[in-house]
Amino acid sequence: MDWFSDSDDLKDGFVNPLTVWYEYHKRDLPWRHTRDPYFIWLSEVILQQTRVAQGRPYYERFVAAYPTVQSMSDADERDLLRLWQGLGYYSRARNMHRTAQHVAGPLGGQFPETYHELLKLPGVGAYTAAAIASFAFNEKAAVVDGNVYRVLARVFGLEEDITTTQAKKTFSTLANRLIQLSDNPATYNQAIMEFGAIQCTPVSPDCLLCPMQQRCQAYLTGRQRELPVKSKKNAVRERYFNYIVIRQGDRIAMKERTQKDIWQHLYDFCLIETEEPMEAFRELPEGALLNWVLQEGILRGLSDERTQVLSHQRIRARFWLVEVPEGRNVSLPDGLFFCKPSDTERLPKPILVVDYLKSLYF
Ligand code: ADE
Repeated sequence: MDWFSDSDDLKDGFVNPLTVWYEYHKRDLPWRHTRDPYFIWLSEVILQQTRVAQGRPYYERFVAAYPTVQSMSDADERDLLRLWQGLGYYSRARNMHRTAQHVAGPLGGQFPETYHELLKLPGVGAYTAAAIASFAFNEKAAVVDGNVYRVLARVFGLEEDITTTQAKKTFSTLANRLIQLSDNPATYNQAIMEFGAIQCTPVSPDCLLCPMQQRCQAYLTGRQRELPVKSKKNAVRERYFNYIVIRQGDRIAMKERTQKDIWQHLYDFCLIETEEPMEAFRELPEGALLNWVLQEGILRGLSDERTQVLSHQRIRARFWLVEVPEGRNVSLPDGLFFCKPSDTERLPKPILVVDYLKSLYF
């Protein structure tokens, strides 16, 4: 970090060029036209979950459905989950609801106005608190996300493994020192994230047109690919989901996922999880459920395996379509209930289930 030994260097060599770069290159995004902490919070919660291109339509749908923190607070959690459908990490959506209720209730509809007060909100961590404090209230609180790690690691040649607590402290300290030098912390925070998102990208950064090129430690030593240093993630757990899709006429048996597991409070079908992939219906572990299916239904089809990768799990799902003859009066096993297509559509569901239903109807 030699060339950045004093604050003037840091300001002239990093903070100012980055801010100027931003004014020329920034994308026109809806949450950049507001200082309302509710919209900023909403956009940041969504953008922690996904990229701008995918997140933007979600943001627009949420703003249309819930134009105020009060309206989100009053929302039915199921509708909120349905709007969140496809973004994953559904506990985030539930936390978001809790935060809205806390702000609309005890806080009288006002978001706190400082980083330290914002941090006390349920589900609001250092990143979101800094984003709201700076974008809405122009506080000098540095955002530190994946983009910021990459930009700082490369420009300053920082080699600490960003998954460690020590590195998080190093990066956060540097980021906060830098933002102190900015005259406009809201713009500066947007600038460093935007720079990481569209110029200093993970795989092929646009170094030839970079305003920091001649000072960037990664560029000068050809280490763009190596920085930031990030140790490998944990092994991914494989899970085999055998969905028994019970259909009678146009109705399908759905079930709420109530257990403490992925997709809590979303809706899927009757599920038999196994340790190994099951190729044939008769291989499924015997039990009351399978007996019910064999007695009441007729196997109509088996889908190919469909996979969904989560952060620490890979779900391999197969769908066994079982038809119950129309007119037969059956009582469904535990927790299942029949749903018409229009009702199914309204329920929040994992994307695997959404896609399967699409293939079933169309
Ligand atoms: N990613 C996270 N926050 C963002 C923001 N405010 N604008 C663009 N991308 C982002």
